[in-house]
Amino acid sequence: MSALSYVLNPGGVLTGDIRVPGDKSISHRSIMLGSLAEGVTEVTGFLEGEDSLNTLKCFQAMGVKIDGPTEGRVRIQGVGLRGLKAPAAPLYVGNSGTSMRLMAGILAAQGFDSEMSGDSSLAKRPMRRVTEPLAQMGAKIDTGEGGRPPLHIHGGQTLHGIDYVLPMASAQVKSCLLLAGLYAEGETRVTEPAPTRDHTERMLAGFGYKVEREGATVALRGGGRLLGTRIDVPSDISSAAFFLVGASIAEGSDLTLRHVGMNPTRTGVIDILRLMGADLCVHNEREVGGEPVADIRVKSAPLRGIRIPEELVPLAIDEFPALFIAAACAEGETVLTGAEELRVKESDRIQVMADGLVTLGIDARPTADGIVIRGGRMGGGEIVSHGDHRIAMSFAMASLRAQEAIRIRECEYVNTSFPGFAVLARAAGVQLAEVAE
Ligand code: S3P
Repeated sequence: MSALSYVLNPGGVLTGDIRVPGDKSISHRSIMLGSLAEGVTEVTGFLEGEDSLNTLKCFQAMGVKIDGPTEGRVRIQGVGLRGLKAPAAPLYVGNSGTSMRLMAGILAAQGFDSEMSGDSSLAKRPMRRVTEPLAQMGAKIDTGEGGRPPLHIHGGQTLHGIDYVLPMASAQVKSCLLLAGLYAEGETRVTEPAPTRDHTERMLAGFGYKVEREGATVALRGGGRLLGTRIDVPSDISSAAFFLVGASIAEGSDLTLRHVGMNPTRTGVIDILRLMGADLCVHNEREVGGEPVADIRVKSAPLRGIRIPEELVPLAIDEFPALFIAAACAEGETVLTGAEELRVKESDRIQVMADGLVTLGIDARPTADGIVIRGGRMGGGEIVSHGDHRIAMSFAMASLRAQEAIRIRECEYVNTSFPGFAVLARAAGVQLAEVAE
């Protein structure tokens, strides 16, 4: 990957009608479940970003025949739950925490040994949150120093179901344990402290696997089968979020986003923006392959600072970098609490966003589990995105309200989740130039 910066001229208005790329979480899961299913799975709308492509390559390396992606179409010839083969080399997942954490659950149950590693950002992220409960199920996994990648997974273990209460709201941990549970003896039960994205549960049901939910607990029994199916991946609401914020803050904007995934465990960004006074209109609501989808029209509106309700935090967990830009453009103070998870994402998103906002002249004070941002005049300056795609795209939107030019470093990571961002942002009205470093 060669180093790339964005250089943004201040100002602009977002207009038109756009469709952002496919949902990253659903794309990862389509490859995993499609590979483990019996028969063919056809995927449309697959995200051709580096993260989901890394998952795809890992399953190819374990002997699964996968054609594509070609214009978002992927055809997977599933090998069944017991059909994966030992990879010839360590599996590399790049920047993708979702690949590593979810695949850990699958690999822990295989007959072969495996190793997973990632890039310098992933190498700093905590993995004990999955290896500890997997060990309780009977898995044998060695981590790197401090419970971080790489993971060495010892195959040939017999897993048994556990009743696990998640210590943090994490869809990745929940999904990892459910995937391991497909192979475990007896029942695997996972209880979450707050609702998190439920794509794994929905997709398992779509592959014909029985998953039960009682309140905050999801449960399944090992030993069943997955049957190949069709998956239509909606646009990623986490990618749409940059444009929802951009059009809200850039005066005179009127932008429509098509075919956006509206799973209720993902729509916190809409609720939070509305509480701030944003003008969002959701229409053409429909269901596509077990996931709700809609079009969203957003017009600019004066925003006000709010205290973000803690129950919305897991439902908007990936959208906070963008929401912090909205807060910087709002009248008054926005207070976020209960969001310590942001410190262990692709970067420490509380610190990195606070540093960037301060560079632009905004009063942004990080706290242990959140941030306090006072809206104000944004100047310009140089932002380091710390290899975090969502930091880069958020500050690109900040340019719409900045008084001076913004330069953002390390924007090559945008391709992990949003290939084509620069072209789409320019088409919508962001004054963005890409500059090779
Ligand atoms: C994801 C879950 C979230 C999210 C990540 C994708 C998933 O992580 O931040 O981008 O696909 O399950 P956590 O479950 O760790 O919060």
